[in-house]
Amino acid sequence: MDKLTLNQTTLAPGALNNQVILITGASDGIGRALAFHAAKYGATTILLGKSIKKLEALYDEIVAAGYPEPAIHPLNLLRAEPQHAADLAQSIKGMFNRLDAIVHNAGMVGQICQMEHLSPHKWQEVIQLNLNVPYLLTHALLPLLQETPHASILFTTADEATQGKAYWSAYSASKFGIMGLAQSLHQELETNTNIRVNCINPKKVRTGLRVKSYPAIDPLSLPAPEDIMPHYLYLLSESAKEIRGKAVEVEI
Ligand SMILES: NC(=O)c1ccc[n+]([C@@H]2O[C@H](COP(=O)([O-])OP(=O)(O)OC[C@H]3O[C@@H](n4cnc5c(N)ncnc54)[C@H](OP(=O)(O)O)[C@@H]3O)[C@@H](O)[C@H]2O)c1
Repeated sequence: MDKLTLNQTTLAPGALNNQVILITGASDGIGRALAFHAAKYGATTILLGKSIKKLEALYDEIVAAGYPEPAIHPLNLLRAEPQHAADLAQSIKGMFNRLDAIVHNAGMVGQICQMEHLSPHKWQEVIQLNLNVPYLLTHALLPLLQETPHASILFTTADEATQGKAYWSAYSASKFGIMGLAQSLHQELETNTNIRVNCINPKKVRTGLRVKSYPAIDPLSLPAPEDIMPHYLYLLSESAKEIRGKAVEVEI
């Protein structure tokens, strides 16, 4: 995919009004910030995450702020199978009868170690969450997205999606896979549909995932999830309707 750095990311209030957006991994880190800020710009968000408690706390915050009421969809994606994705599609159709965007954000690093010491179980978990799940959900939700005039699918990559790194084999393989999936899907959808497919690499962000992976780095030296929100929100908005098939790199 061609790399893209966004120069313009400012949005008018209400820029996401009436959009229904599914965000995976909405309970923490980047996904949590995105769910709150997308709601702030008018979107109705579907919050998918593992921890019900964290999802409920976020729901309360969004409602208390006076933003559109979100929906909660707790699911341990490590156990997600095609039927779970089909159930989610049915539930979104029943509740909203539309879907404007999916942000495939949930992710894990797994074990940071030499491949020879990486357990098969951990390998499978990382591939399941970071690669199989985006396929499963996209596959089940494409029919709903196809009914929307300007739909968008945003996959999350990382530096490791284009450059393998010692000790990060499962994560790197999963993110290379996402890049391949996104590129193929973009080519399938670019000419005859209104579905935009893009990737975003958030780079280095102060979240649990980053801090656990790099314990020697001072977390306060990293941008907070809120700092990178303009990139995500812009990509989801109609202002970005010409941006298709791009690997967006967050630069702040
Ligand atoms: N932070 C960075 O510097 C950075 C850099 C490059 C790429 N990324 C990518 O950005 C994305 C978000 O990462 P983050 O840093 O925000 O991570 P994070 O703070 O660890 O948040 C991960 C999110 O994924 C959810 N999740 C994890 N396992 C799950 C499961 N089994 N089922 C359902 N949800 C699950 C978590 O839910 P619970 O809280 O409920 O467990 C949480 O909401 C990931 O795809 C990551 O690869 C991050």
